[in-house]
Amino acid sequence: MKINYNDRLTKCKPSKIREFNEKAREMGAKYFLTLGEPDFDTPDSIKDALLNSIKKNHTRYAPTVGVSSLRNKVCKFENRVNKVSYQADEVLITSGSTEALTACLFTILNEDDEVIVPIPCYALYEPVISFCNAKFIALDTRPTFQIETNKLANLITKKTKAILLTSPNNPTGTIYDNQTLENIYQLVKGTNILVICDNCYDQLIYGKRELGFSKYQDIKDQIVVCQSFSKPYAMTGWRLGYMLGNKELCQKVSIIHQYMVVCVNTFVQDAGIAALDYEPKEMISIYEKRRDYVYERLIKMGFDVIKPNGAFYLFPSIKKFNMSSFDFCYKLVEKKKVAFIPGDCFMADDYIRISYCVDDNTIKIAMNLLEEFVQEINY
Ligand SMILES: Cc1ncc(COP(=O)(O)O)c(C=O)c1O
Repeated sequence: MKINYNDRLTKCKPSKIREFNEKAREMGAKYFLTLGEPDFDTPDSIKDALLNSIKKNHTRYAPTVGVSSLRNKVCKFENRVNKVSYQADEVLITSGSTEALTACLFTILNEDDEVIVPIPCYALYEPVISFCNAKFIALDTRPTFQIETNKLANLITKKTKAILLTSPNNPTGTIYDNQTLENIYQLVKGTNILVICDNCYDQLIYGKRELGFSKYQDIKDQIVVCQSFSKPYAMTGWRLGYMLGNKELCQKVSIIHQYMVVCVNTFVQDAGIAALDYEPKEMISIYEKRRDYVYERLIKMGFDVIKPNGAFYLFPSIKKFNMSSFDFCYKLVEKKKVAFIPGDCFMADDYIRISYCVDDNTIKIAMNLLEEFVQEINY
């Protein structure tokens, strides 16, 4: 029998990142600086909270929108850390920020709606937007990785439904500066354009932490925040996140959330409360040292690379090597057993992404081998 699959699924290709990672493994790669996954264990206070919750038999369905204790905690956390004011009914607890982003896009997008996305960007956005039969409008930020207001203004049309901001960014680690945020605010204020903030990395900032786009509380109804517990608290496998938006939007998004997942695991939500009390300072200072180390090594090797102030990635240009990012990365695996992610996975074929969320020794060996590789290839 032949299954006639959903037509829109044909537009939706599986993640090239995972595909490349698997291929690199098959090719015998030994040093992986590929996935965006903290190498730390989840802190004990969070694990203990989960065990306590299970012992108390918090093992039944939770409310679709999330347990009220976590939603209230999220409001307090957002108020303390981001100086924003949300009520519990403006919070939806989701299965990671992946679900928050996907459910939100499914909820708001109609055919031919346009979503402006600064590229290079995280690999989820384009397939999900295409799945909705909406249009992914790329705003190229190379080589500074900051958003140029004129370029953004030129892309805005009557069909623009949303602008998607990821700051700190995956893959570049870039944080949008205050002037950029102000310019975007001025552009969208008074329009029907939503600003979706993927704040997955906004606890992982080196140096002074400035407030993100959600600080523009006078246009709060236009702002949707998608947040994740995965990266700051080393909880990738727990699948916990949340969405902040106005009450009506939260209710609409919860319809899709209900039919897809019913609710997030009750005891995981209880542990989320403990996570929001955890300060990831130690992890941040380790990431910062690694960032400095990798950056300095890349500069010494002659790479053209920006030193970003957030997330745990560096995104050097490989333009001068005159090969595609896949060629570069495959050759590196083949010759040196080191795996990075080709920039093409983020719509920037002239770059590679190096994740430094692995142990110091692996980073050092990978940098030594990259140095050898660069000296050996002719360009
Ligand atoms: C920019 C960005 N958004 C969202 C996610 C998804 O995170 P989660 O584990 O919360 O689904 C990731 C994961 O790598 C990411 O890099």
